[in-house]
Amino acid sequence: MFASGTGSNFKAIVDASNDKYLSSRVSLLISNNSDCGAAEIARKNNIDFVHISRKVYPNLSETEYSQLFIKALEDHDIDLIVLAGYMKLIVPEVLKKYKGRIINIHPALLPAFGGKGMYGLNVHKAVIESGEKKTGITIHYVDENYDDGEIIFQECIDVDENGDAESLQKKVLKLEHKYYPEIIKRIEEGNL
Ligand code: GRF
Repeated sequence: MFASGTGSNFKAIVDASNDKYLSSRVSLLISNNSDCGAAEIARKNNIDFVHISRKVYPNLSETEYSQLFIKALEDHDIDLIVLAGYMKLIVPEVLKKYKGRIINIHPALLPAFGGKGMYGLNVHKAVIESGEKKTGITIHYVDENYDDGEIIFQECIDVDENGDAESLQKKVLKLEHKYYPEIIKRIEEGNL
């Protein structure tokens, strides 16, 4: 898994694996942020953590930098890459090698409210400001753009009239934690 933030989706998937709901094991966390909540959750669960950031490796060529990801993924024999709040684009070498095997979750109904800058509370603020009555989650394959790639699954919920961005975020996260493990299970079963 790749994550940069709090790691609540990372935790939901680790829990689903620990509980044997998933047959897959989460064997690696890659993050650009060594202090993130996800890294802490990885430590508690004995999941290998690899910190890869341009800030740490400013002088590497694109190829050398990509190789850091490829090596970590190969060393852990990774079949599926699951992004959960990962704040960087996936490097082209990884996209090429794991084509069709990288998924992401987004806290809105793509293609609306996606793209650069649309993360965290920004998404939910934009939904509320737009006056939309529905929002939801999108799980999709990953390509070279932010929040792009073929959509696998969407689920929607009502936007509460009296709610704010924070309450909407909480409500959407609950959906994410329910459906992200479920979709991974369907991928495991070849049953999408
Ligand atoms: C989630 O809302 C996810 O949809 C988006 O980033 C957020 C990550 O939250 N891609 P968390 O770190 O899993 O709590």
